[in-house]
Amino acid sequence: MTRGSLLVDHIGELVTNDGRDADPLGVRRDAALLVEDGEVAWTGPARHAPAADRRIDAGGAAVLPGFVDSHAHLVFAGDRAAEFAARMAGERYTGGGIRTTVGATRAASDDDLRATVGRLRGEMLRQGTTTVEIKSGYGLNVADEARSLRIAAEFTDDTTFLGAHVVPAEYADRPDDYVGLVCGPMLAAAAPYARWIDVFCERGAFDADHARAILACGQAAGLGVRLHANQLGPGPGVRLGVELGAASVDHCTHLTDADVDALAGSETVATLLPGAEFSTRSPYPDARRLLDAGVTVALATDCNPGSSYTSSMPFCVALAVREMRMTPAEAVWAATAGGAAALRRTDVGRLTPGARADLIILDAPSHLHLAYRPGVPLIRQVLHNGVPR
Ligand code: NIG
Ligand code: FE
Repeated sequence: MTRGSLLVDHIGELVTNDGRDADPLGVRRDAALLVEDGEVAWTGPARHAPAADRRIDAGGAAVLPGFVDSHAHLVFAGDRAAEFAARMAGERYTGGGIRTTVGATRAASDDDLRATVGRLRGEMLRQGTTTVEIKSGYGLNVADEARSLRIAAEFTDDTTFLGAHVVPAEYADRPDDYVGLVCGPMLAAAAPYARWIDVFCERGAFDADHARAILACGQAAGLGVRLHANQLGPGPGVRLGVELGAASVDHCTHLTDADVDALAGSETVATLLPGAEFSTRSPYPDARRLLDAGVTVALATDCNPGSSYTSSMPFCVALAVREMRMTPAEAVWAATAGGAAALRRTDVGRLTPGARADLIILDAPSHLHLAYRPGVPLIRQVLHNGVPR
C-alpha cells in the first residue's frame, strides 16, 4: 500500500456497482475517484474532485472495479494441449484427464508449482483481475493437497480445498475409503490453509451422499461451502448446494426447473464458467433463465489445464454476452459484484467509499467495449489495493 492520496480524474464512465438505483452498474459520468490508504475514499463529479498528493488522468476512459474471478484451479503442473486438440477433432470431455494432471502435479517441485501460480496470477492481473479464488484438487493425497493450498495461500485469501475433485487411481475401487481420507487426515492438513471447501459433484466424480458427507465435514472444520454442480449432466449438486447454504454452485450447465427454483429462493450464487463450454465445445448454460428467475449470477474463468485454460475475464464477459445472451451490463456486473457475492466478499467488486481500491482503467470509453471488442487488450491500467500495477 502506498501512503498518501491518489485522485483518478477525468473518468468518462465510472462503474460503481453501488446498487442504488435501477442501473445495477451504478454508472456515473464525468467522474473522479479518490484513493486513500488502499481504499476508495470518495467518488463524485470530476468538477468537485478534492485535492490529492498524486493524480492519474483517465482521459475520458471507463473505470471499472477489478474483476473478481471466483473459480480457478491454478496449482498444477503440465498441460493438456493434446487433449484439447483431440476434443476439437471430435472427442468428448469427461473429466478423465484430471488424473493426468494429478500425476504431473505430484511429481512437481514446490517451486515449479509456485512459478505456475505466479505466472497465471500475473496474466490475470494484466487482464484486470484483482481478486482470485484458487483451488487445490490436483494433489489428491494428504501431502499434495496441503502443499497445493499452502502455495495458493501465498497468492490469495480465497483458497479452496478440493480434495474431492475425483477419486485418485489408487482408490479407484474403494471410493468410500477415499471419502474417509478426505474428511479425516486430508481435511485436517488442508484446513489451516483453506477458506472454502468444494466437491466435484458429478457422475464419474462424487455422488450426492459423498458430496454431502465431505461438505459437512468441511463446514464443521469452519470452511465455507461451494461446489462444482451440474456441469456434464443434470444431477443433485445444485439442490445440495442450496440445502447446505453454499456461497456458490458453479457451472450450472444442466438445470431443471426445480434447480432454478431452489436457487431463486436462496442466497446461493450461480457461477457460470463459459470458458469451460468454449473449450469443451459444449452447450452454454442458460443464463437468461437464471437471471429472469432472479438468481444472482457470477462469471468466472475456471482457469485449469483441462476444461478451460483461459485466465481472461474479458474473454468470459464477451462469451457471456455473445453466447449466453447476457447484456453487457449483466456480464460486467457478474464478473465484478457477482464474483464478490460468490466469495461472500463486501470489500471488492464495487467502487464506493470503503471498498478496496481495486480498479481497471480501460482503453475504451465504456464497459460495452469489453464485449464489443473481443480479444483486444483493453486493460490500460490496473490499481490493486490502490497501487498502480
Ligand atoms: O471445473 N469439473 C471439474 N473440474 C474442472 C476441470 C478440471 C480438469 O479437467 O482438469 C472444471 O471444469
Ligand atoms: Fe472448476
